[in-house]
Amino acid sequence: MVVYLPSLTLFCHSLWTKKMSAAAALFVFMCLTATTYADHHQPCHSPNMTGLMSVMSFKGEMKALGAFTYDSMGKKLRFRSNESQPTNTSLGLDLLMFFDEGIFYEIDSKNQSCEKKKLQMALHPLDIPDDAKLYSTVNSGSASIEGEGLKVNVWTGSMPQIKGHYSMSVTMGCLPVTTMYFSETTPFLFRNMEVDLEIKDPDLLVVPSFCHGQPVEDTPEGTINSFLNEFM
Ligand SMILES: *[C@@H]1O[C@H](CO)[C@@H](O)[C@H](O)[C@H]1NC(C)=O
Ligand SMILES: *[C@@H]1O[C@H](CO)[C@@H](O)[C@H](O)[C@H]1NC(C)=O
Ligand SMILES: *[C@@H]1O[C@H](CO)[C@@H](O)[C@H](O)[C@H]1NC(C)=O
Ligand SMILES: *[C@@H]1O[C@H](CO)[C@@H](O)[C@H](O)[C@H]1NC(C)=O
Repeated sequence: MVVYLPSLTLFCHSLWTKKMSAAAALFVFMCLTATTYADHHQPCHSPNMTGLMSVMSFKGEMKALGAFTYDSMGKKLRFRSNESQPTNTSLGLDLLMFFDEGIFYEIDSKNQSCEKKKLQMALHPLDIPDDAKLYSTVNSGSASIEGEGLKVNVWTGSMPQIKGHYSMSVTMGCLPVTTMYFSETTPFLFRNMEVDLEIKDPDLLVVPSFCHGQPVEDTPEGTINSFLNEFM
């Protein structure tokens, strides 16, 4: 990357001086982005968090709105959708994910049952994958008016398992704000809100007693289990 950058920059410059089409302008923009972010950047890892998460499909369907608890060291996540404001597309979900172990539980507290499944894809909207690439740094809102802007790093990467890619906006303190997932199915937008940097209720990250001894279910051929797939 670094090796051919001078020539790329030169090429960008020569394009710039010619009469430009919109496509060329876009390409120049991409060249400049490539120039700025050619350095190697390591993704940060999010801290412990409690907050709200909303999940929307790009068809405009509200898939879920609920509370999450995330343990960044233990790589554990609990998400429970709040059914007090249901829309006709919302899903009632209660998920307890163990990313290091590669398993998760779909919990039904009402009838005290649960399903234990294998994870085929560890990706989720609360942490940046290690192989993500820094695409750009953006000031949303205003950079000059205090309290009216939010500076975010945009990280991108691919999801080979479901033939897609993602784009995550993350604050300078490593709090993911929005994540977009694009795949062969409808794209999804995850948003994190009202985040606190602590685990308020550690019990939420403990497997409920009624799930103990649950066997791991067989994954049907061709099925991909992941946090994202739970909303599809
Ligand atoms: C995050 O939470 C876990 C589980 O409660 C705890 O063991 C760990 O020390 C916490 N990490 C930080 C940095 O507070
Ligand atoms: C669901 O939302 C309502 C109203 O916003 C709130 O009072 C309640 O605590 C929420 N419940 C859960 C489990 O998050
Ligand atoms: C509910 O679902 C129907 C059909 O699936 C759709 O036409 C309608 O717009 C939905 N309403 C809301 C409020 O989402
Ligand atoms: C619990 O409820 C879910 C749906 O709400 C149902 O699919 C499941 O079979 C129920 N399990 C038991 C043990 O009743």
